[in-house]
Amino acid sequence: MCGIVGYVGLRSVPETLLDGLKRLEYRGYDSSGMALLNDGKIIEIKNIGKVINLEKKASDTVGLELKNGTGIAHTRWATHGFPSEINAHPHLDAKHRFAIVHNGIIENYQSLKTQLQEKGIVFKSETDSEVLVHLISECYNGNLLEAVATALKKVNGTYGLAVISLESPGTIIAARHGSPLLIGLGEGESFIASDAAALVAFTRRVIYLNDHDVAQVTSSGVEIRNLDNIAVNRDISKIDWEPGAVEKSGFEHFMLKEICEQPEAVGNSIRGRLDLRSGNAHFNALNLSPYELSKINRIVIAACGTSMHAGMVGRYFFEDLASIPVDVEQAAEFRYRNPIIQPDTMVLPVSQSGETADTLAAVREAANKGAIVTAICNVVGSTIARESEHCIYLHAGPEIGVASTKAFTCQVTVLLMLAMLFGRNRRMSYQNALGLIAEIETIPELTKKVLDQRSGIEAVAKKYAEAEDFFYIGRGYLYPVALEGALKLKEISYIHAEGYHAAELKHGPIALLEENVPVVALANDLPGKEKMISNIQECRARCSPVIATVTAGDESFKDLVSDIITIPACSQFIAPVVTAVALQLFAYYVAKERGCEIDQPRNLAKSVTVE
Ligand code: F6R
Repeated sequence: MCGIVGYVGLRSVPETLLDGLKRLEYRGYDSSGMALLNDGKIIEIKNIGKVINLEKKASDTVGLELKNGTGIAHTRWATHGFPSEINAHPHLDAKHRFAIVHNGIIENYQSLKTQLQEKGIVFKSETDSEVLVHLISECYNGNLLEAVATALKKVNGTYGLAVISLESPGTIIAARHGSPLLIGLGEGESFIASDAAALVAFTRRVIYLNDHDVAQVTSSGVEIRNLDNIAVNRDISKIDWEPGAVEKSGFEHFMLKEICEQPEAVGNSIRGRLDLRSGNAHFNALNLSPYELSKINRIVIAACGTSMHAGMVGRYFFEDLASIPVDVEQAAEFRYRNPIIQPDTMVLPVSQSGETADTLAAVREAANKGAIVTAICNVVGSTIARESEHCIYLHAGPEIGVASTKAFTCQVTVLLMLAMLFGRNRRMSYQNALGLIAEIETIPELTKKVLDQRSGIEAVAKKYAEAEDFFYIGRGYLYPVALEGALKLKEISYIHAEGYHAAELKHGPIALLEENVPVVALANDLPGKEKMISNIQECRARCSPVIATVTAGDESFKDLVSDIITIPACSQFIAPVVTAVALQLFAYYVAKERGCEIDQPRNLAKSVTVE
């Protein structure tokens, strides 16, 4: 998804902007650009493709050593208009007095564009964003912040916006509504970015803007107002991860690094949240009394993609451990379906980024209908985290690879601990809770055991890397894991992969099975295994090769399947996490064998901040 970086201070401006853009590359983009305020003019540099091309162009035109100035930069992921140099940001007004970069969508851009065209303004690009720069230019009356605020009042839609002007050298105006933006505070310098990853190498002190904030950013600090020009106060937060967390640290891809980080990441999700004395889980962010907890009679999990799959695993936890009815909703469906929410409903938005547009809209819809909203997020200070009544953080560290890996396993782990909290509030005994705590504490070690088999999984992956269709089947707790395994494979290897409940196969999809269509069967030694054996037989009868995940020591699949991926023995509560790690590795090695761009798969963005 689009990324924004801005800088004002003494460093080399192009170098600083490019450094920030490179750290946002993981989000996915098709073109990039920057605007530099220098020597009484705005220099615009844009390029299709990778930031490295932009760097070359900047180096050839202005050099990279342009110190003591102001600049804004952008990576674009096309929504309105093809990826092209003209459609890339920044956009400038006709007299080149103003330049903007914009994330989000201006919904009423067509009517605004027509009004501006009637005044004789000529548009260069096909983007919705370009209307913003012309509006700001029209509204300018000697004060840049006021011009931006006045222009934004005419706009419907979402924006994270940065503006520079010849009239205000040394100033960037930043504004947000529905698209994240933060200000980084340094000594005699300031930064803006749409994502903390762009800033962490420069400063850890940041201010997250709220919706309708308009900030005037200079090298000496920031002043924030709302659209009505009234000053507002925002807290300074501290980014708590190291710059190294957004680097590959010797791994070939971020995705592999993040897969391998899971023992530590899950350990961080668990740390300090399990209490042997009370036999319970606790979350500082969820300060409900036992009485308040006991009044929650229904849970709705709203999420998208991988986070929704984690939510689907969560449903089994809440039903089995706490006997609470759970619905898992695709967040877009939730927001538009007029969902029934009662005062005893807790809505759990699950989101790695905390910025997914549909999940955020679900949060607002749920809050509006009076639900208790408890988010499960990874990114601290993200919009969903801030807008939810409570937020339980994953503490998984930044996830850079576009395909979500460690966030999934941490989400599932947090949901398990949360279900335990509800279970203890109801029928779960102290003894059972102690048993579950002991199991949860083994997750980091068990995921490590899967990682230790990397080379074996790689060998199986290589064998099937040329297949063009795959099926993944699972039952019970492993049914959502089958969906997640298929999603991982299709995202990064571009192989058509479908996840199904194993019982559903014979209701249609089995028609597609043949010798070129491998089936990944999640056949761990869990309830339902016997039925899975029958399902595997059905696949074999159609000549499909079967790759099975099998519990260590289980010999029953030796002569039944083509290949085995061994999963350490564990209960159904832990198996989704451990099995998912194996499927992530499988997808990774298939994609690598096919020579795919693993960290930035085509057409995908890290956080989907548009509908
Ligand atoms: C898949 C993936 C996506 C996200 C989905 C929701 O690997 O990353 O399916 O899970 O876009 O994103 P978040 O969790 O940030 O709300």
